[in-house]
This record gives sequence, C-alpha cells and structure tokens, in this order.
Amino acid sequence: MAAGAGALAAAPGEVAQGVQELAEVVSARPVGAYTHLVLRAPEAARRARPGQFVACGTGDSGMLLRRSLSLHAADPEAGTLEVVVAAAGPGTRLLAAKRPGDTVSTTAPLGRPFPLPAPGTPAVVIGGGYGAAPLPWLAGQLVATGSRVVGIVGAASADRLLGTSAVDEATALDGVADAVVITTDDGSLGAPGRVTDALPEVLHELAELGEPVVYACGPMPMLRAVHTTTREALGDGASTWLAVEESMACGVGVCMTCVLPVAAVDDDGVTRTRMLRACTAGPVFDGDALRWDAIGAAEHLRGGALVPDDAVGAPKATGGH
Ligand SMILES: Cc1cc2nc3c(=O)[nH]c(=O)nc-3n(C[C@H](O)[C@H](O)[C@H](O)COP(=O)(O)OP(=O)(O)OC[C@H]3O[C@@H](n4cnc5c(N)ncnc54)[C@H](O)[C@@H]3O)c2cc1C
Ligand code: FES
Repeated sequence: MAAGAGALAAAPGEVAQGVQELAEVVSARPVGAYTHLVLRAPEAARRARPGQFVACGTGDSGMLLRRSLSLHAADPEAGTLEVVVAAAGPGTRLLAAKRPGDTVSTTAPLGRPFPLPAPGTPAVVIGGGYGAAPLPWLAGQLVATGSRVVGIVGAASADRLLGTSAVDEATALDGVADAVVITTDDGSLGAPGRVTDALPEVLHELAELGEPVVYACGPMPMLRAVHTTTREALGDGASTWLAVEESMACGVGVCMTCVLPVAAVDDDGVTRTRMLRACTAGPVFDGDALRWDAIGAAEHLRGGALVPDDAVGAPKATGGH
C-alpha cells in the first residue's frame, strides 16, 4: 500500500471535489485474479480519502461512460492513485490491459469517504472479492488513531480473494490490521463459508474493548448480511458504514441511475426516505439508513432498488433505476 495512510481524516458530511486529470500508468501488475494499477494523478492524490472512487475513461472512443473503481490508496507525495481492476466486462478489460506509459482519463476523488470513529474505537473492515481494495488504506488510518482493527476478507473461491498476503503482500491487510480472517465459500482458502460467518466472533472479541464500528465494501447481498449480522451480534444502533457498488453510469450525480432509498431524520424530527444518488451521497452509507426492504426488490431491474411508497420527492409506483 502507498504511503499517505493516516495523513488525512475525513470530515463528517464532506463532499469530494473531483478533478479531471490525464493520468499516466506508472505500473501495472497482476494481483491474483485482478490487475493493480498505479496512476499518476497528483491533484486527486492530494485530495483523496479511503472510500472514495475514481471514474476512468477506457480509452475506447466508442465507450462514452467512465468506469468507477474504488481507490486502493493515494500517495500525495508521489502524486499517485492506486486501483485494483477486475476484468468483468469490455471497459474493465481495457483498463486491466493498460501498461506503464499508457494514459487513463480520470475524474477523482468522487463520492463521500468512510467516516472515522472516535480515536481508539475498535473496528472491523470487511471486503468481498475486489471489495477489499480500499480496506488496507482505511485500516491504516484507523490503526493510526489507536483503533484495534480486524480484517475479514472473503470470496467465492481462493482465486477471487484480495487483501490477504496469501494473494499479494503489497495489497494485503496483513501487517496493517491487527488480525486478518479469510473465508471462501468453497473452503479453498481460510475458513469455509461467508465473511458474515466469521463476523459474530470477531465482534464479540472486539466488544470487550468498546462498541466496535463495522466497515464493509462489496456486493449488495454481502452488505445486507453484514448489516443484519452486526445488529444481531451488537443490537440496534451498532455502527455500520457500507460502500455500495451500484451501477454508476456517470459517477458525478447527473444521470440518476445509481439512486438508492435512504432514510434520514429531518430538522423537524421526522424520519423521511429519499432516493439518493449513490455516486454523490455515497458510495459509503450508514447501514441503518439504507431502506433494505426496497433494495434488491426490483426483480425486473436485475435486483435494483424499488422506490418505497413513502419516499418523498420521487415518483411512486414500480419505478427504480
Ligand atoms: C463505487 C464503485 C466502486 C467500484 N470499485 C471497483 C473496483 O475497485 N474494481 C473493479 O474492478 N470494479 C469496481 N467497480 C465495478 C466496476 O465499476 C464495473 O465492473 C464496471 O463499470 C463495469 O464496466 P464494464 O465495461 O467492464 O462492464 P459492463 O457491465 O459492460 O458496464 C458498462 C458500463 O455500463 C454501466 N452500467 C451497466 N449496467 C448499468 C445499469 N443498470 N445502470 C447504469 N449503468 C450501468 C457500468 O457502470 C459501466 O459504466 C466499482 C463500482 C462502483 C460503483
Ligand atoms: S451515476 Fe449518474 S447520478 Fe450517480
């Protein structure tokens, strides 16, 4: 992981100001099933915080949309951003094929970062697959403020893992977090099962030091399970901060394809649900604020979110995104 961890704390409610930079690829190397890229983007590197993302042009003039990637690290002194790319479709395949000396059009940092808790608060950082990308940077900041940090990284199988030295030392949580637990669905590495199978024991251990805060990044079903498991283990009010990976067409708040139903208490004391853009209000959300009853409920939209009947300022009926 790059230097810079621990250098900057996220201000609550802060909104990132993304800048556009034509970034030179400094290095590109395989990390397990993924590709780790170092991009020279000095202005973004100065501003970035863990939990934020970069929107990358693919270099193909026929692909109008940028592809969103979590920031693995930012080094303000070297002026670099780091990302980990899973070649999932045409755009990410092009990005994963970049080589040193190539350029990538970037807009970063985007979105809101993970908020940091009071110094010394114990924490769990959880990643599914490439969702583990931002965790070493976040864990470094938490450890620097006196937190005991346990990492849990999981994947369907060992070849999809990230964030463990069993895959790659430089992108691992080992040596940053105080302990790391590995899970795989098929048992090919670490404990057989899901990240949430390991979570209750970790939470109960950390709870002896104080109420733990839980950070997670990965697919929505995993985030839902992390939220449910945390509440079962610690009770209502336990703190979860979840970085979502909703499909983002523009990444900068213009297109409304990434909206999610989010509940918040207004100034008059009444809790209301609004459809918020995950790219600007997120990607990090308070797990208690997400309307889980409507998320993943739109079967006709490949599991997208429905607009709850009580949402304000949004069209009713069967909409979604
Ligand atoms: C905040 C965030 C962080 C991410 N972090 C990482 C990461 O660290 N590493 C990584 O490998 N991937 C990451 N992803 C996923 C990555 O952005 C997608 O896999 C990628 O955009 C897919 O592009 P593609 O051309 O390869 O595939 P395609 O599936 O062909 O996507 C083409 C484009 O269409 C958009 N799109 C597809 N479906 C929809 C839809 N229903 N509504 C709106 N737009 C749509 C996609 O966002 C993409 O821009 C992240 C996504 C988000 C939102
Ligand atoms: S991705 Fe366009 S508004 Fe969020």
